[in-house]
Formats: sequence, structure tokens, C-alpha cells
Amino acid sequence: MKKSSYIGPSISRYQFEGLKNKGWIVEYAKEIYKRRPNIVALMELDIGGRFQKVVVKSFGWRDAKSPFISPFKKSRAEMAWDATHLLLDVGLPVPKPVAVYTARQAGFIDHNLFITEYIGKHQKSSRFLENEIVDFAHKRDVVMKIAEIVSATHKAGFLHHDFVKDNFLISDVNHHSVFLVDLTIIEQKKKMTIEDRMEDIAKLDLCKCNLDHDHEDCLWLYFILSYDSDNAQNILIQLKKSIQKHQKKQKIS
Ligand SMILES: Nc1ncnc2c1ncn2[C@@H]1O[C@H](COP(=O)(O)OP(=O)(O)OP(=O)(O)O)[C@@H](O)[C@H]1O
Ligand SMILES: [Mg+2]
Repeated sequence: MKKSSYIGPSISRYQFEGLKNKGWIVEYAKEIYKRRPNIVALMELDIGGRFQKVVVKSFGWRDAKSPFISPFKKSRAEMAWDATHLLLDVGLPVPKPVAVYTARQAGFIDHNLFITEYIGKHQKSSRFLENEIVDFAHKRDVVMKIAEIVSATHKAGFLHHDFVKDNFLISDVNHHSVFLVDLTIIEQKKKMTIEDRMEDIAKLDLCKCNLDHDHEDCLWLYFILSYDSDNAQNILIQLKKSIQKHQKKQKIS
């Protein structure tokens, strides 16, 4: 059975107690990015003796069975902590981890927190790419940057399993600075098939054409060129299949 654990610099007792309470996080947050099932909030905390802006993710349950199997599994905060270090080690742009806390009672998870550095003011890439005021060249550059990150993740031997536009953050200060977040369900794989990789990419939903027909200014095509230009034709065929499969699944559910 797994035990409670905290890794990170010291946090004042008052704030540490507060972080166990979702209502406290909401009350003292400078900004709340998400409320359900996880609370994700920008906070100013006294960490390691100095006040700093950090992003606190307090995990909630996604389904009814998860709490019951929790004594035997690593928590999602612990998984995010491990994955973030692995990706940082291979040079990927992910927010630096600050602390991780999983409190358990008789193994069952009570509180589950993951704290990272704040990357600064940003937009989710979904918002940026859907903004009609942003010109195509800018969108293309961002998509090509996203493709570089996806390609580097796969080359390092990881499937992210949640490559959606909301998980790529674009810095307001510099649009070339793109961060990848949400590393909770990342999987390390020794052998990765092209189907595995394309399935990982298919949810990105970069262009309404879904690679069904040729047209000008297709963001999917720029993605493919930046992801792996040497195998662009093969990637295009496989990715089209994965997108169709993903859409069928969505229609059923
Ligand atoms: N380090 C960070 N700096 C600034 N903003 C962040 C940071 N981490 C997360 N955010 C903001 O919070 C949002 C939600 O974060 P994240 O994707 O990790 O949570 P989530 O979507 O609730 O996760 P899940 O998919 O596990 O439910 C991001 O889209 C982003 O706007
Ligand atoms: Mg997310």
C-alpha cells in the first residue's frame, strides 16, 4: 500500500494546510484556469522562504472507481512529477516542477497536488489558432513549433495521450515560446509504431478538412512537414486514418 509523500521546498504551515482545501485555493488564487475535475490556479506562495508565482493543480476524481484503486497506484500528481522530470531531461519546454504532494489515509488518496513554475501570461493554442485576427503565417509558425515538440516527445520514447490544443500554451511575450502541459497520463514506450504515434496526434484537430481533401493554407500539412518532412507522404496517409478513427469514436460516445 502506498504512503503519503511530499517532495519540494518548504512551504509555510499555514499555506500548506490551506492547499489541502480546494475552497482555500479558489479564495486565494490570483487566477483560476480550470475548476473541474481538477482545480488549476495561479497562486503566490511562500516557497523555500520566498514568495513566488506558481501554478497549483489540485486533482479531483474523474470517475467513480478511481478512489477505490488509489491505494495501489501512483497518484496522478506523482505521475505528472515523474513525467515532467523525464521530459525536462530531454530538453522539452515544460513548466519546471516545484513540488508534489499526495496525502493518503490507509493508502486511499485524500489530497493530490502538483505545483509548477508559472510560465507567465499566455494563451492556449486553441484560442490563438481560432482567433480570426491572427494572420496565417503566425498560426503556421505556432503549429510548426507544436509539431517540433510532438516530434521530440515521440523521439524521446513517450506517448503523451492528451495532445490537444489546450495543452500547448503560447507565451504572450514571445509567440515562438510554446509550452507543453498536462503530463499526467504520459507513457514511456520502448517500441512505438507509426499507428501509436498518429493516434497520439489525431486529437489535435488542426484543420476542418481532416486531411480529407487538398486545399491551400492547411495547418495539418505544415504540422506534418515540421513533424517529419522525410516521411511526409506516409505520415499523411496514416494520420488521415487515425483522424477518421478518432472521429468515429467521438461520434459513438
Ligand atoms: N505552469 C503553468 N503556467 C501558466 N499556466 C498554466 C501552467 N500550467 C497550467 N496552466 C494553465 O492551466 C490550464 C489547465 O492546466 P492543465 O492542462 O495542466 O490541467 P487540466 O486540463 O485540468 O488537466 P487534465 O486534462 O488532467 O484535466 C492550462 O491550459 C493553462 O492555461
Ligand atoms: Mg489540459
